[in-house]
Amino acid sequence: MDNNFNTKQLSEDTKNILGLQLPTDPRWVDLAGISLAEILTDHAYCEQKAATTCISLIQKNSDKEKLVNELAPIVTEEWGHFRLVLQELRKRNLQLGKQRKDEYVNKLLVFQHKGGSNEDRFLDQMLTMALIEARSCERFKRLSEGLKDAYLSNFYRRFMESEAGHYTLFIGLAETYIDAAKVRKRWAEWLAYEAEVMQTLEVRGDRIH
Ligand SMILES: [Fe+2]
Ligand SMILES: [Fe+2]
Repeated sequence: MDNNFNTKQLSEDTKNILGLQLPTDPRWVDLAGISLAEILTDHAYCEQKAATTCISLIQKNSDKEKLVNELAPIVTEEWGHFRLVLQELRKRNLQLGKQRKDEYVNKLLVFQHKGGSNEDRFLDQMLTMALIEARSCERFKRLSEGLKDAYLSNFYRRFMESEAGHYTLFIGLAETYIDAAKVRKRWAEWLAYEAEVMQTLEVRGDRIH
């Protein structure tokens, strides 16, 4: 592990609420602040993907009543987030750019159980979503604290709060259908893997992750 970053540098709330093992490189928020069109575009697609992934989870898990009931409103919420970001782009006369390859998410997908039982695959799908929500929440927190523009800083605080709620929701869904001790054990493996992934990614201000 890179010694420049350690868990001591995590703020208490990030550490306690999200469990993430590696804080975002402090240079990232400054880079993001100067590539607003790119960061807003990338953010817009993250919200779209959150909505479409929730739709596909509902389709694949129609027998899980609680999951269907809880994810249905999240689809609306994530789509609402997409519209908020789009509005921000329009207000600033910025274009919604092209969708880029999502290296962070692609690297997480590699860690998912492809074989194994239905339960193992389901657990990994829930934990992947929880992790993306947790990291997005952490990134939005950085933006809300680090951007000079007070309006944008408030804009990102609102996203931070809703993604923290989504992180909790996915962990809760995993524990609804799977033994809590098994969920915790696999979650610890995911957190360790995600910290490795974060270290391999270039620090770029044009992407949320
Ligand atoms: Fe969202
Ligand atoms: Fe979310």
